[in-house]
Amino acid sequence: MREADKLFTDGEAYERLMGRWSRKVGKLFLDWLDAPKNLSWLDVGCGNGAFTEEIIARCMPAAVTAVDPSDDQLGYARTRPGVKMTNFRVGDAQNLPFAVSTFDIATMALVISFLPNPDKAAAEMARVVRPGGWVAAYMWDGPGGGTPVHPIYLALESMGMTSVRPPNPAASGRDAMQGLWKNAGLESVETRVIRIPTVYSDFDDFWDSNLVPIGPQGKTFAGMSASAKQELRTRLRDHLPASSDGRIVYESFANAVKGRVPA
Ligand SMILES: C[S@@+](CC[C@H](N)C(=O)[O-])C[C@H]1O[C@@H](n2cnc3c(N)ncnc32)[C@H](O)[C@@H]1O
Repeated sequence: MREADKLFTDGEAYERLMGRWSRKVGKLFLDWLDAPKNLSWLDVGCGNGAFTEEIIARCMPAAVTAVDPSDDQLGYARTRPGVKMTNFRVGDAQNLPFAVSTFDIATMALVISFLPNPDKAAAEMARVVRPGGWVAAYMWDGPGGGTPVHPIYLALESMGMTSVRPPNPAASGRDAMQGLWKNAGLESVETRVIRIPTVYSDFDDFWDSNLVPIGPQGKTFAGMSASAKQELRTRLRDHLPASSDGRIVYESFANAVKGRVPA
């Protein structure tokens, strides 16, 4: 991937932008998976390790391997105190560098819409998990407006602008994810919606954490003039749902899918 095409680089900025929300969804997702202890896990598209840390904290794994194409994100992930047991590697979800049946379970958190070929990723996860093992993923519901940055997309549209979006938003639909899992030959496929409150301490928390130069909207900001950014700030301040104590609170929602490799 060319440096200019990378959407996710700075792991610390990612943590404030998205890691904190990924971890909230991730907890509910792992409860839903209800995986046994002592499994060998693969976390695909681990980024800065936000979700990887949840796997280790909640699932008592025997081993964890995590892959991502971004060296910068992996660099941050390696500094997390809670992920010391993890073997981090550079890798592509669509061409996983592992042999057949290497893992008991593979997860992919907030990645599927960033893949040109999500079918290949689902097939690859099914390939590297042993018979009877689990393959699961979650992604903000892009078409349904579930991503935490959705208010920014709406505000930009109200200004006659469109944000850069993940390259494959349709892959995050609930039916689409179910189809991907079934096409990969997985069995006992189930889906669910996971809803979380997205809570910012005040407007500045919202603005500062979202105005970072990473992710699809980061690419959009990079091309905006100072006056357009100011206009965006004003529109968001006017329209975001603020509670009486100044906090910004709205709901975000993700679709999740899980299935098992045929025994
Ligand atoms: C929104 S972040 C999610 C990171 C992490 N899983 C989390 O839940 O916070 C999306 C991640 O997908 C990664 N990614 C993009 N293309 C990928 C690919 N082809 N294979 C694996 N990961 C990819 C990015 O580098 C980025 O770290």
